[in-house]
Amino acid sequence: MQPYQMSMFSANYYFKYTIRSKEVMSLRAFVKRWKKIVCLTCFICVPPLIYLLGSIEYLIAKPYSEFSWPLEVNLTRVISDYETGHYHVAPINEQKFLLKVQPTADKCQDFKLLTVLIKSRVDGRKSRDVLRKTWVKSLTKNNYRHLFLLGSCASINSTSCEKDVRKEQSDYGDLLQGDFVDAYENNTIKMTMAFQYITEQCLPHSSVLYLLLIDDDYALNVRKLESYLIETAKKFDLYAGYVWKKSRPFRIHFHKHYMSLDQYPYSHYPPFVSAGAMLLTSDVVKKFYIVSKFSKYYPFDDVFYGFVAKKLNISPTDIGEFLPSYYNVPSVHSKSNKRLIGSHRFGKIDEVFQIYKKFYNQ
Ligand SMILES: *[C@@H]1O[C@H](CO)[C@@H](O)[C@H](O)[C@H]1NC(C)=O
Ligand SMILES: *[C@@H]1O[C@H](CO)[C@@H](O)[C@H](O)[C@H]1NC(C)=O
Ligand SMILES: *[C@@H]1O[C@H](CO)[C@@H](O)[C@H](O)[C@H]1NC(C)=O
Repeated sequence: MQPYQMSMFSANYYFKYTIRSKEVMSLRAFVKRWKKIVCLTCFICVPPLIYLLGSIEYLIAKPYSEFSWPLEVNLTRVISDYETGHYHVAPINEQKFLLKVQPTADKCQDFKLLTVLIKSRVDGRKSRDVLRKTWVKSLTKNNYRHLFLLGSCASINSTSCEKDVRKEQSDYGDLLQGDFVDAYENNTIKMTMAFQYITEQCLPHSSVLYLLLIDDDYALNVRKLESYLIETAKKFDLYAGYVWKKSRPFRIHFHKHYMSLDQYPYSHYPPFVSAGAMLLTSDVVKKFYIVSKFSKYYPFDDVFYGFVAKKLNISPTDIGEFLPSYYNVPSVHSKSNKRLIGSHRFGKIDEVFQIYKKFYNQ
Protein backbone atom coordinates (compact mmCIF):
# COMPACT_ATOMS: atom_id res chain seq x y z
CA MET A 1 0.00 0.00 0.00
CA GLN A 2 2.65 2.40 1.10
CA PRO A 3 4.67 2.88 -2.12
CA TYR A 4 1.55 3.31 -4.09
CA GLN A 5 0.36 6.07 -1.88
CA MET A 6 3.80 7.64 -1.89
CA SER A 7 3.96 7.68 -5.60
CA MET A 8 0.45 9.08 -5.87
CA PHE A 9 1.45 11.85 -3.49
CA SER A 10 4.57 12.78 -5.38
CA ALA A 11 2.78 12.65 -8.70
CA ASN A 12 0.11 14.88 -7.33
CA TYR A 13 2.68 17.23 -5.86
CA TYR A 14 4.64 17.39 -9.07
CA PHE A 15 1.49 18.04 -11.01
CA LYS A 16 0.33 20.89 -8.75
CA TYR A 17 3.77 22.42 -8.48
CA THR A 18 4.42 22.55 -12.17
CA ILE A 19 0.97 23.87 -12.92
CA ARG A 20 1.38 26.55 -10.27
CA SER A 21 4.82 27.53 -11.44
CA LYS A 22 3.59 27.54 -15.01
CA GLU A 23 0.80 29.88 -13.97
CA VAL A 24 3.23 32.12 -12.15
CA MET A 25 5.56 32.09 -15.10
CA SER A 26 2.83 32.99 -17.49
CA LEU A 27 1.60 35.78 -15.23
CA ARG A 28 5.14 37.10 -15.00
CA ALA A 29 5.55 36.87 -18.71
CA PHE A 30 2.26 38.60 -19.14
CA VAL A 31 3.21 41.43 -16.78
CA LYS A 32 6.58 41.70 -18.45
CA ARG A 33 5.10 41.87 -21.88
CA TRP A 34 2.22 44.18 -20.89
CA LYS A 35 4.04 46.02 -18.10
CA LYS A 36 3.33 49.44 -19.44
CA ILE A 37 -0.32 48.72 -20.04
CA VAL A 38 -0.80 47.10 -16.60
CA CYS A 39 0.88 50.05 -14.87
CA LEU A 40 -1.10 52.52 -16.88
CA THR A 41 -4.35 50.72 -16.10
CA CYS A 42 -3.59 50.81 -12.34
CA PHE A 43 -2.52 54.41 -12.64
CA ILE A 44 -5.78 55.31 -14.35
CA CYS A 45 -8.17 53.09 -12.36
CA VAL A 46 -7.04 53.32 -8.76
CA PRO A 47 -7.42 57.06 -8.13
CA PRO A 48 -10.98 57.20 -9.51
CA LEU A 49 -11.83 54.14 -7.41
CA ILE A 50 -10.52 55.85 -4.28
CA TYR A 51 -12.49 58.91 -5.31
CA LEU A 52 -15.72 56.99 -6.04
CA LEU A 53 -15.59 55.17 -2.72
CA GLY A 54 -15.49 58.57 -1.06
CA SER A 55 -12.30 57.72 0.86
CA ILE A 56 -10.92 61.22 0.50
CA GLU A 57 -14.12 62.77 1.76
CA TYR A 58 -14.10 60.43 4.77
CA LEU A 59 -10.53 61.55 5.52
CA ILE A 60 -10.87 65.28 5.07
CA ALA A 61 -14.36 65.76 6.54
CA LYS A 62 -14.37 68.23 9.42
CA PRO A 63 -14.58 66.63 12.87
CA TYR A 64 -18.09 66.50 14.30
CA SER A 65 -16.94 68.52 17.33
CA GLU A 66 -16.97 71.58 15.04
CA PHE A 67 -20.61 70.99 14.06
CA SER A 68 -22.69 74.05 13.36
CA TRP A 69 -25.64 74.37 10.98
CA PRO A 70 -26.72 77.68 9.46
CA LEU A 71 -28.37 79.98 10.33
CA GLU A 72 -26.63 80.95 13.58
CA VAL A 73 -29.20 83.17 15.28
CA ASN A 74 -30.55 83.69 18.77
CA LEU A 75 -33.19 80.95 18.81
CA THR A 76 -34.75 82.06 22.10
CA ARG A 77 -35.46 85.38 20.44
CA VAL A 78 -36.70 83.80 17.20
CA ILE A 79 -39.14 81.59 19.14
CA SER A 80 -40.53 84.56 21.06
CA ASP A 81 -40.67 86.54 17.78
CA TYR A 82 -43.12 83.91 16.46
CA GLU A 83 -45.81 85.08 18.89
CA THR A 84 -45.49 88.68 17.68
CA GLY A 85 -45.71 87.64 14.01
CA HIS A 86 -42.48 89.42 13.10
CA TYR A 87 -39.00 87.83 13.05
CA HIS A 88 -36.00 90.07 13.83
CA VAL A 89 -34.03 88.20 11.12
CA ALA A 90 -35.35 86.86 7.83
CA PRO A 91 -36.00 83.09 7.65
CA ILE A 92 -33.77 81.16 5.20
CA ASN A 93 -35.98 78.12 4.74
CA GLU A 94 -39.57 79.26 4.61
CA GLN A 95 -41.70 76.47 3.17
CA LYS A 96 -45.20 77.74 2.94
CA PHE A 97 -46.73 74.93 0.98
CA LEU A 98 -50.36 75.60 0.49
CA LEU A 99 -52.44 72.89 2.05
CA LYS A 100 -54.50 71.53 -0.82
CA VAL A 101 -56.71 69.29 1.23
CA GLN A 102 -57.07 69.60 4.97
CA PRO A 103 -59.47 68.59 7.70
CA THR A 104 -61.65 71.36 9.08
CA ALA A 105 -59.72 73.34 11.71
CA ASP A 106 -62.23 72.90 14.51
CA LYS A 107 -61.64 69.13 14.46
CA CYS A 108 -58.41 69.76 16.39
CA GLN A 109 -60.50 70.56 19.46
CA ASP A 110 -62.16 67.17 19.66
CA PHE A 111 -59.00 65.23 20.29
CA LYS A 112 -56.83 64.93 23.36
CA LEU A 113 -53.42 63.66 24.47
CA LEU A 114 -52.25 62.15 21.21
CA THR A 115 -52.32 62.84 17.49
CA VAL A 116 -50.73 60.35 15.12
CA LEU A 117 -49.37 61.74 11.86
CA ILE A 118 -48.91 58.95 9.34
CA LYS A 119 -46.49 59.56 6.47
CA SER A 120 -48.36 58.24 3.48
CA ARG A 121 -48.18 58.88 -0.27
CA VAL A 122 -50.77 60.17 -2.62
CA ASP A 123 -50.79 56.74 -4.33
CA GLY A 124 -50.80 54.81 -1.04
CA ARG A 125 -54.52 54.21 -0.74
CA LYS A 126 -54.05 50.47 -0.14
CA SER A 127 -51.88 51.03 2.97
CA ARG A 128 -54.27 53.65 4.30
CA ASP A 129 -57.19 51.26 3.97
CA VAL A 130 -55.31 48.49 5.80
CA LEU A 131 -54.46 50.87 8.64
CA ARG A 132 -58.03 52.17 8.82
CA LYS A 133 -59.12 48.60 9.43
CA THR A 134 -56.45 47.94 12.10
CA TRP A 135 -54.64 50.26 14.49
CA VAL A 136 -56.10 53.48 13.14
CA LYS A 137 -59.48 52.01 14.16
CA SER A 138 -58.12 51.52 17.69
CA LEU A 139 -56.91 55.13 17.76
CA THR A 140 -60.33 56.42 16.77
CA LYS A 141 -62.04 54.17 19.32
CA ASN A 142 -59.84 55.72 22.03
CA ASN A 143 -60.61 59.25 20.80
CA TYR A 144 -57.10 59.83 19.49
CA ARG A 145 -56.71 61.62 16.24
CA HIS A 146 -54.80 60.52 13.17
CA LEU A 147 -53.93 62.22 9.89
CA PHE A 148 -52.38 60.83 6.72
CA LEU A 149 -49.75 63.13 5.20
CA LEU A 150 -49.69 63.37 1.40
CA GLY A 151 -47.97 65.38 -1.31
CA SER A 152 -49.66 66.57 -4.48
CA CYS A 153 -50.81 64.54 -7.50
CA ALA A 154 -48.13 66.21 -9.69
CA SER A 155 -45.94 63.10 -10.08
CA ILE A 156 -48.86 60.69 -10.52
CA ASN A 157 -49.85 59.58 -13.99
CA SER A 158 -53.54 59.47 -13.32
CA THR A 159 -56.14 61.99 -14.34
CA SER A 160 -58.44 60.88 -11.54
CA CYS A 161 -55.85 61.38 -8.75
CA GLU A 162 -57.19 64.73 -7.52
CA LYS A 163 -60.77 63.51 -7.73
CA ASP A 164 -59.87 60.32 -5.80
CA VAL A 165 -58.20 62.34 -3.03
CA ARG A 166 -61.23 64.59 -2.67
CA LYS A 167 -63.52 61.55 -2.54
CA GLU A 168 -61.32 59.84 0.07
CA GLN A 169 -61.34 63.05 2.11
CA SER A 170 -65.12 63.32 2.01
CA ASP A 171 -65.38 59.66 3.09
CA TYR A 172 -62.83 59.74 5.93
CA GLY A 173 -61.76 63.36 6.54
CA ASP A 174 -58.29 62.25 7.67
CA LEU A 175 -56.03 63.53 4.87
CA LEU A 176 -53.59 66.41 5.01
CA GLN A 177 -52.27 67.13 1.54
CA GLY A 178 -49.63 69.73 0.71
CA ASP A 179 -48.80 71.36 -2.60
CA PHE A 180 -45.41 69.73 -3.31
CA VAL A 181 -44.30 66.79 -5.43
CA ASP A 182 -44.79 63.56 -3.46
CA ALA A 183 -41.18 62.31 -3.69
CA TYR A 184 -38.76 60.71 -1.22
CA GLU A 185 -36.47 63.76 -1.44
CA ASN A 186 -39.39 65.91 -0.30
CA ASN A 187 -39.94 64.05 2.97
CA THR A 188 -38.47 66.98 4.92
CA ILE A 189 -41.17 69.17 3.36
CA LYS A 190 -43.81 66.59 4.28
CA MET A 191 -42.70 66.54 7.90
CA THR A 192 -42.48 70.33 8.08
CA MET A 193 -45.97 70.59 6.60
CA ALA A 194 -47.26 68.41 9.46
CA PHE A 195 -45.48 70.56 12.05
CA GLN A 196 -46.85 73.70 10.38
CA TYR A 197 -50.41 72.37 10.46
CA ILE A 198 -50.18 71.29 14.11
CA THR A 199 -48.53 74.55 15.22
CA GLU A 200 -50.72 76.96 13.29
CA GLN A 201 -54.08 75.22 13.16
CA CYS A 202 -54.23 72.91 16.19
CA LEU A 203 -52.06 74.07 19.08
CA PRO A 204 -53.88 77.39 19.52
CA HIS A 205 -57.17 75.50 20.07
CA SER A 206 -56.44 72.09 21.51
CA SER A 207 -54.82 70.31 24.38
CA VAL A 208 -52.99 67.70 22.32
CA LEU A 209 -49.77 66.87 24.13
CA TYR A 210 -48.07 64.11 22.14
CA LEU A 211 -47.47 63.70 18.44
CA LEU A 212 -46.35 60.49 16.88
CA LEU A 213 -45.00 60.73 13.34
CA ILE A 214 -45.00 57.27 11.88
CA ASP A 215 -44.54 55.50 8.54
CA ASP A 216 -47.55 53.81 7.00
CA ASP A 217 -45.92 50.36 7.20
CA TYR A 218 -45.76 50.22 10.99
CA ALA A 219 -47.88 47.99 13.17
CA LEU A 220 -48.80 50.05 16.23
CA ASN A 221 -49.95 48.77 19.60
CA VAL A 222 -52.22 51.60 20.70
CA ARG A 223 -52.83 50.30 24.22
CA LYS A 224 -49.10 49.97 24.92
CA LEU A 225 -48.42 53.41 23.50
CA GLU A 226 -51.12 54.90 25.69
CA SER A 227 -49.75 53.41 28.87
CA TYR A 228 -46.22 54.51 27.92
CA LEU A 229 -47.47 58.08 27.44
CA ILE A 230 -49.42 58.16 30.67
CA GLU A 231 -46.91 56.41 32.91
CA THR A 232 -43.43 57.06 31.55
CA ALA A 233 -43.06 59.74 28.91
CA LYS A 234 -41.76 63.24 29.68
CA LYS A 235 -44.42 65.94 29.42
CA PHE A 236 -42.20 68.42 27.57
CA ASP A 237 -38.97 68.51 25.57
CA LEU A 238 -39.63 64.97 24.36
CA TYR A 239 -37.97 63.93 21.09
CA ALA A 240 -37.95 60.15 21.18
CA GLY A 241 -37.79 56.96 19.13
CA TYR A 242 -35.05 54.80 17.67
CA VAL A 243 -31.92 56.99 18.03
CA TRP A 244 -29.06 56.86 15.52
CA LYS A 245 -26.24 57.93 17.80
CA LYS A 246 -23.26 58.41 15.54
CA SER A 247 -24.14 57.77 11.93
CA ARG A 248 -22.10 59.02 8.98
CA PRO A 249 -23.31 60.58 5.76
CA PHE A 250 -22.97 58.45 2.62
CA ARG A 251 -19.80 59.45 0.76
CA ILE A 252 -19.83 56.69 -1.86
CA HIS A 253 -20.43 58.44 -5.16
CA PHE A 254 -23.51 57.40 -7.15
CA HIS A 255 -25.10 56.06 -3.96
CA LYS A 256 -28.74 57.12 -3.84
CA HIS A 257 -28.04 59.06 -0.63
CA TYR A 258 -24.60 60.44 -1.56
CA MET A 259 -23.77 63.69 0.22
CA SER A 260 -20.85 65.85 -0.84
CA LEU A 261 -18.70 67.81 1.61
CA ASP A 262 -20.36 70.97 0.29
CA GLN A 263 -23.75 69.63 1.30
CA TYR A 264 -22.54 68.30 4.65
CA PRO A 265 -18.93 68.99 5.72
CA TYR A 266 -18.68 66.98 8.98
CA SER A 267 -17.66 63.40 9.71
CA HIS A 268 -20.83 62.44 11.61
CA TYR A 269 -24.40 63.49 12.03
CA PRO A 270 -25.71 64.70 15.37
CA PRO A 271 -27.75 61.99 17.11
CA PHE A 272 -31.23 61.86 15.57
CA VAL A 273 -34.46 59.93 15.93
CA SER A 274 -35.20 57.65 12.98
CA ALA A 275 -38.03 58.97 10.83
CA GLY A 276 -39.90 55.64 10.94
CA ALA A 277 -41.50 56.49 14.26
CA MET A 278 -40.85 59.75 16.10
CA LEU A 279 -42.60 60.71 19.31
CA LEU A 280 -42.68 64.41 20.23
CA THR A 281 -44.35 66.64 22.78
CA SER A 282 -46.24 69.58 21.30
CA ASP A 283 -43.78 72.18 22.68
CA VAL A 284 -41.06 70.44 20.66
CA VAL A 285 -43.24 70.37 17.53
CA LYS A 286 -43.73 74.13 17.79
CA LYS A 287 -40.01 74.82 18.37
CA PHE A 288 -39.05 72.45 15.54
CA TYR A 289 -41.44 74.23 13.19
CA ILE A 290 -40.16 77.71 14.02
CA VAL A 291 -36.47 76.77 14.03
CA SER A 292 -36.82 74.79 10.76
CA LYS A 293 -37.32 78.17 9.04
CA PHE A 294 -33.91 79.25 10.31
CA SER A 295 -32.12 76.03 9.34
CA LYS A 296 -30.55 75.26 5.97
CA TYR A 297 -32.62 72.65 4.11
CA TYR A 298 -31.45 69.03 4.16
CA PRO A 299 -33.25 66.34 2.14
CA PHE A 300 -33.39 63.63 4.84
CA ASP A 301 -36.21 64.53 7.21
CA ASP A 302 -34.90 62.74 10.28
CA VAL A 303 -31.33 64.05 9.87
CA PHE A 304 -32.64 67.58 9.28
CA TYR A 305 -34.65 67.52 12.51
CA GLY A 306 -31.56 66.09 14.23
CA PHE A 307 -29.80 69.35 13.22
CA VAL A 308 -32.74 71.38 14.49
CA ALA A 309 -32.77 69.48 17.81
CA LYS A 310 -29.02 69.98 18.18
CA LYS A 311 -29.42 73.73 17.57
CA LEU A 312 -32.14 73.77 20.24
CA ASN A 313 -30.10 71.64 22.68
CA ILE A 314 -32.87 69.05 22.81
CA SER A 315 -31.33 65.61 23.15
CA PRO A 316 -33.11 62.58 21.73
CA THR A 317 -34.53 59.92 24.04
CA ASP A 318 -33.92 56.38 22.85
CA ILE A 319 -37.04 54.24 23.12
CA GLY A 320 -35.92 51.97 20.31
CA GLU A 321 -36.86 48.96 22.41
CA PHE A 322 -40.50 50.02 22.11
CA LEU A 323 -40.46 51.51 18.64
CA PRO A 324 -37.83 49.54 16.79
CA SER A 325 -36.77 50.66 13.40
CA TYR A 326 -34.77 47.80 11.99
CA TYR A 327 -35.84 44.59 13.71
CA ASN A 328 -36.96 41.48 12.04
CA VAL A 329 -40.65 41.49 12.70
CA PRO A 330 -41.45 37.80 13.30
CA SER A 331 -38.79 37.52 16.03
CA VAL A 332 -39.77 40.83 17.60
CA HIS A 333 -43.42 39.86 17.65
CA SER A 334 -42.96 36.66 19.53
CA LYS A 335 -45.50 36.43 22.33
CA SER A 336 -42.77 37.05 24.90
CA ASN A 337 -42.25 40.57 23.62
CA LYS A 338 -45.31 42.15 25.15
CA ARG A 339 -43.75 45.55 25.76
CA LEU A 340 -43.44 46.50 22.13
CA ILE A 341 -45.37 49.58 21.04
CA GLY A 342 -44.77 49.33 17.34
CA SER A 343 -42.70 47.76 14.65
CA HIS A 344 -41.57 48.56 11.15
CA ARG A 345 -42.32 46.32 8.21
CA PHE A 346 -40.76 48.20 5.27
CA GLY A 347 -43.64 48.32 2.87
CA LYS A 348 -45.08 44.85 3.54
CA ILE A 349 -48.52 46.16 4.32
CA ASP A 350 -50.29 42.80 4.26
CA GLU A 351 -47.93 41.54 6.95
CA VAL A 352 -48.72 44.60 9.07
CA PHE A 353 -52.31 43.43 8.92
CA GLN A 354 -51.38 39.85 9.96
CA ILE A 355 -49.14 41.07 12.80
CA TYR A 356 -51.84 43.36 14.05
CA LYS A 357 -54.45 40.60 14.00
CA LYS A 358 -52.18 38.18 15.79
CA PHE A 359 -50.64 40.28 18.54
CA TYR A 360 -52.23 43.68 18.76
CA ASN A 361 -55.93 43.07 18.28
CA GLN A 362 -57.50 45.22 20.91
C1 LIG B 1 -31.18 85.87 23.06
O1 LIG B 1 -32.42 86.52 23.18
C2 LIG B 1 -32.97 86.51 24.48
C3 LIG B 1 -34.40 87.06 24.41
O2 LIG B 1 -34.52 88.07 23.46
C4 LIG B 1 -32.04 87.31 25.41
O3 LIG B 1 -32.58 87.33 26.71
C5 LIG B 1 -30.67 86.66 25.39
O4 LIG B 1 -29.77 87.43 26.14
C6 LIG B 1 -30.15 86.53 23.96
N1 LIG B 1 -28.93 85.73 23.98
C7 LIG B 1 -27.81 86.12 23.38
C8 LIG B 1 -26.68 85.17 23.49
O5 LIG B 1 -27.72 87.16 22.77
C1 LIG C 1 -49.63 57.73 -18.53
O1 LIG C 1 -50.59 56.72 -18.69
C2 LIG C 1 -51.08 56.62 -20.02
C3 LIG C 1 -52.22 55.60 -20.06
O2 LIG C 1 -52.18 54.72 -18.97
C4 LIG C 1 -49.92 56.25 -20.96
O3 LIG C 1 -50.39 56.15 -22.31
C5 LIG C 1 -48.85 57.30 -20.88
O4 LIG C 1 -47.72 56.94 -21.65
C6 LIG C 1 -48.41 57.50 -19.41
N1 LIG C 1 -47.47 58.62 -19.31
C7 LIG C 1 -46.36 58.59 -18.58
C8 LIG C 1 -45.56 59.85 -18.58
O5 LIG C 1 -46.00 57.60 -17.94
C1 LIG D 1 -40.18 68.59 -4.26
O1 LIG D 1 -41.28 69.47 -4.35
C2 LIG D 1 -41.05 70.67 -5.04
C3 LIG D 1 -42.29 71.51 -4.97
O2 LIG D 1 -43.38 70.84 -5.55
C4 LIG D 1 -40.62 70.36 -6.48
O3 LIG D 1 -40.29 71.56 -7.14
C5 LIG D 1 -39.43 69.43 -6.47
O4 LIG D 1 -39.11 69.03 -7.78
C6 LIG D 1 -39.73 68.19 -5.64
N1 LIG D 1 -38.57 67.34 -5.56
C7 LIG D 1 -38.50 66.16 -6.18
C8 LIG D 1 -37.24 65.40 -6.03
O5 LIG D 1 -39.42 65.69 -6.81
